[in-house]
Amino acid sequence: MIWFFLFLELLILIGTIAYLAFLGETMANFRTNRVLYHSSNLREQGEVLEKTIRRYAPDSEKYVLVDIGAGLARVSQYLKARLPWKDVEAVEIGPVIMAFAKIRFLFLKPAVRFVRQDIFSYDLPKPAVVYAYISEEILTNLYKQGRLDGCLVLCLTFKINGLEPTEEIPLKSWQKRILVYDLRA
Ligand SMILES: C[S@@+](CC[C@H](N)C(=O)[O-])C[C@H]1O[C@@H](n2cnc3c(N)ncnc32)[C@H](O)[C@@H]1O
Repeated sequence: MIWFFLFLELLILIGTIAYLAFLGETMANFRTNRVLYHSSNLREQGEVLEKTIRRYAPDSEKYVLVDIGAGLARVSQYLKARLPWKDVEAVEIGPVIMAFAKIRFLFLKPAVRFVRQDIFSYDLPKPAVVYAYISEEILTNLYKQGRLDGCLVLCLTFKINGLEPTEEIPLKSWQKRILVYDLRA
């Protein structure tokens, strides 16, 4: 019996440390003005994203799916399970968030390939379908630097400033909309 309680205490201790590390990273992001972690709502958005990709890139097997600011990579995992891809990459800057994601992948498949990197120093493979739930400022800078050229970009909620979206798909959830930017031309 004593071993059971010791084991339970150990689990609680590990859980608390992990939670504090996650919180610490979030606080650090506040200070550095980085985007905080917030998850997409897959129940509604997952289906909309899948349908949109089927419409714009029916040959998805020729594309690399890149989830920029991937968080726990739930979206890329969802889309990897439903569509054929050349490759799937989840780019995330936060080491703690990424560690959590990797632990998730021990239990939930399919796993996606993680790249721990600042999106501004990452060379986007082409052709790519880019999913982004990240700030307007980051999106706009990536666009101005030409990093999104040649990509089909799907943004949740946030827009690229000064660029008319190819399509805006309204959502019922508070995350409001998915914006499609077809920059493949
Ligand atoms: C709003 S969350 C989105 C999480 C996930 N994509 C989703 O939709 O559920 C934004 C994520 O972007 C990451 N992030 C912020 N700035 C970044 C950067 N410059 N490069 C890579 N990742 C970044 C944050 O750590 C955070 O996990």
